[in-house]
Amino acid sequence: MKDISVNKAEEKPETTKGKYDPRNKLNDLTSTEWIPETISVWNQRGLGAKHPDIKIEKQHPAPFSFTDVARLIRFFTKKGNTVLDPFAGIGSTLKACATEGRKGVGIELNQKYVELTEKRIKTEVTEESNIDDQVVIQGDSRDVIDTLDENSIDFVVTSPPYWNILHKKDHKAKQERVDHGLDTKYSDSDIDIGNIDDYETFLDELTIILAKCRRVFKAKKIYGCCSK
Ligand SMILES: C[S@@+](CC[C@H](N)C(=O)[O-])C[C@H]1O[C@@H](n2cnc3c(N)ncnc32)[C@H](O)[C@@H]1O
Repeated sequence: MKDISVNKAEEKPETTKGKYDPRNKLNDLTSTEWIPETISVWNQRGLGAKHPDIKIEKQHPAPFSFTDVARLIRFFTKKGNTVLDPFAGIGSTLKACATEGRKGVGIELNQKYVELTEKRIKTEVTEESNIDDQVVIQGDSRDVIDTLDENSIDFVVTSPPYWNILHKKDHKAKQERVDHGLDTKYSDSDIDIGNIDDYETFLDELTIILAKCRRVFKAKKIYGCCSK
């Protein structure tokens, strides 16, 4: 009799989460897991202000939720794939890669956030075997991407600076952060694209960085860009 409970091609047993289709080249999801992820608008799933892991994350003025990025990573990659974030910030993408069993490469200009990312991965990730698969490189993405191997990346996901929004005087969370001694901008560096005043110039520089990602990208793979 034909055994329908086991997928012979990839040896994945059928579970309560549904059946995995061996023709699935995109991710490791079953049909049951796949369908709910196809909605076009997601509500952000943060950890909540009281969660102990919020301590490091809040030292950066504009992190995205690693749980949301983990969702994207689960949908657009398979276990063992490599993900690039050219604006790594405080390492939310790398934390998501570590929890999801993917390799992460992050590029971040500000050395302080590079160090906090390393600390975050070491202290917050419980899947110890995945910690060593996460790499954060300090530098300008315009230079660092050129040093990465061709065809080495399966998925690019990032949250770039949103022009010079953090410099706006009326930015709503700003005063609260000032009161708590937290950063209100990424850096004072001219290389930081969040410090470019002219909008067209900002777009040009962002385009240069995203275009450079193409060289390291494997064929038929996917770009993701997160915005809030
Ligand atoms: C919106 S934040 C990313 C936050 C990140 N998604 C997280 O959750 O922590 C954008 C980051 O881009 C960095 N950045 C700005 N210009 C850069 C450049 N030329 N190369 C690399 N990183 C840059 C900033 O220092 C900032 O940390």
